[in-house]
Amino acid sequence: MSKGKVLVVDDDRSLRQFLSIWLKREGYAVRAAASGRDGLHEMTRDPADVVLTDLTMEGIDGMGVLTGVKEHWPDTEVVMITAYGTTENAVQAMRHGAYDYITKPFNVDELKLVLDKCFEKQAMRTENTALRRLLVDRFGYGSMVGRSAPMAAVYDLMDRVKDTPVSVLVTGESGTGKELVARALHYEGERREAPFRSINCGAIPENLIESELFGYKKGAFTGANKDHPGLFASADGGTLFLDEIGEMPLATQVKVLRALQERKVRPVGGSEEVSVDVRLVAATNRDLPAEVAAGRFREDLYYRLNVVTIALPALRERLGDLPMLVEHFVEKYGEQFGRPGISVGAEALRALAGHTWPGNVRELENAVQRGVALSRGDVVTPDALPPEVVGPAGDVGALPSSVPPEGMDLDGALERYELMLIESALEVSGGVKTEAAKLLRITFRSLRYRLQKIGIEEPPTRG
Ligand SMILES: Nc1ncnc2c1ncn2[C@@H]1O[C@H](COP(=O)(O)OP(=O)(O)OP(=O)(O)O)[C@@H](O)[C@H]1O
Ligand SMILES: [Mg+2]
Repeated sequence: MSKGKVLVVDDDRSLRQFLSIWLKREGYAVRAAASGRDGLHEMTRDPADVVLTDLTMEGIDGMGVLTGVKEHWPDTEVVMITAYGTTENAVQAMRHGAYDYITKPFNVDELKLVLDKCFEKQAMRTENTALRRLLVDRFGYGSMVGRSAPMAAVYDLMDRVKDTPVSVLVTGESGTGKELVARALHYEGERREAPFRSINCGAIPENLIESELFGYKKGAFTGANKDHPGLFASADGGTLFLDEIGEMPLATQVKVLRALQERKVRPVGGSEEVSVDVRLVAATNRDLPAEVAAGRFREDLYYRLNVVTIALPALRERLGDLPMLVEHFVEKYGEQFGRPGISVGAEALRALAGHTWPGNVRELENAVQRGVALSRGDVVTPDALPPEVVGPAGDVGALPSSVPPEGMDLDGALERYELMLIESALEVSGGVKTEAAKLLRITFRSLRYRLQKIGIEEPPTRG
C-alpha cells in the first residue's frame, strides 16, 4: 500500500519528472499534470490527498488550482512550489488555504518534511471523524446518552443544524435534557471556541432581565457604577441560551425580537447600538403555541425562535434507553462517591424500568444517585431507591391492575410490561435472542422488531 496519493502540477517537464521519480521512491502514489486545468481534471478522476502545485503557470495558475481544490475537495492539502522572489504570493496562497509552500530550488529533505506534516494532519482528521462517528452512533451525542429511535432522530436534527446560525427552539417536559441539547449544539458546532452564555428567564426578576440581556451604561440607574456588556454582547460569536423562554415578559420579548432582526443591541442608558453575532437557542416546557393564542407570548418572536424545533421525547417514550442511562449515572456517581465498580442489580433495574418517570432523566439521575449513596455493597438494591420508584410493595408499582381515578397511559404501561418481560426472557436465555423469542412464543424477527421499537437494538438503517 502506498503512503498516500500525491498529484504534482507543474509546467516544468524536468521538475515534474524529478518529483514523480523521487515521490515514488518515497512510497507515494504519484500522478503528474502539466497545467492547472489538467491538474483539476486529474482530481475529478481520482482525488489526491496532497496536491503539489507550481504557483506561476499559464492559464489556470497555482492560485486557481488551490481555489478549485479547496472548493471541491476541502480535505485535500495543497502545497505551493514557488520560484525565488515570489514568496509574497505564496504567503497569500496560505491565507487562502494552502498548507505550506516550498521555494525553488528546494532540497528534498525540506519537501519530505512538509509532506510528512501534511499526511500527519490528514491522518489525525480521519481518526477524529471516525472516532466521532463511533461515539455518536454508539452512545449518543456530546454528553447525551441514549440510542432509541426518538433520540436518534434528535441527534440527526442536531447534527444538521449545529453548524448553521438558525435559531433553535428546544421543547420537552421538565428534565428531558433541553439544556444538554443547547450545550451540545454549541460545543459540537462551529461556534465551540466562542462563549456559551445562558439565562433562565423564569428565575430572574422582571426589572433586571433587560440589563442582563442587553447590558447597561455607567450611571444608567442607581448602582450602575460601570459599563456592563450584557449577555448578547458577551456571547458575541457564540451561543446565547434563553432558558424557560415562556416566562419572558412581553416587553422584553419585543426587544429580543428587535435584537434578532437587526443583530444589534442597545445597552440600557446607552445611545449607541452594538452589533452582535449570536446564535440563539431557546427552551421551554410550556406549550408556546397555546401561550401565543392566550396573548402571553408574541407570535412574531415565536416564529423567529422556532426556525427549527427539537422536541425531546419523555423518558417513558424511550424506555429502551433506560439501562444505558442507568449505567451512565451509576458510573458517574460511583466515581464521585469514591465507589468505582458499583453496579445496579437486576432487581433494582426491573423496578427502575417499571416506573413512569414523570420527572424524566433528571428524576432517574436523582434516583440512581440516591441508590449509589445508600447502597452498602457494590450492588445497588431496590431498598436504596426512592420509594416512589420502587412502589409500595417493591413490585413494578407503575403497572396498576385497575385504572386509577386520574386515568393512565395504556400504551406506555403495555410497553413497560413488554420491556420487562423481554428483559427477563433475555436474562433467562443468557442474552441469546432466538432462545428468548422461543420463551415468549414469538418469532426471532418479531423479537428483533420489538427490541428496535423500544430502542434496545439499532434499526437496520443506522450503524
Ligand atoms: N440524554 C441524556 N443523557 C444523559 N444525561 C441526561 C440526558 N438528558 C438529561 N440528562 C441529565 O438530566 C438532568 C436534566 O437535564 P436538563 O437540565 O438538560 O433538562 P431540562 O429539559 O432542561 O429540564 P427543565 O425543563 O427542568 O429545566 C441533567 O443532569 C442532565 O445532565
Ligand atoms: Mg432546563
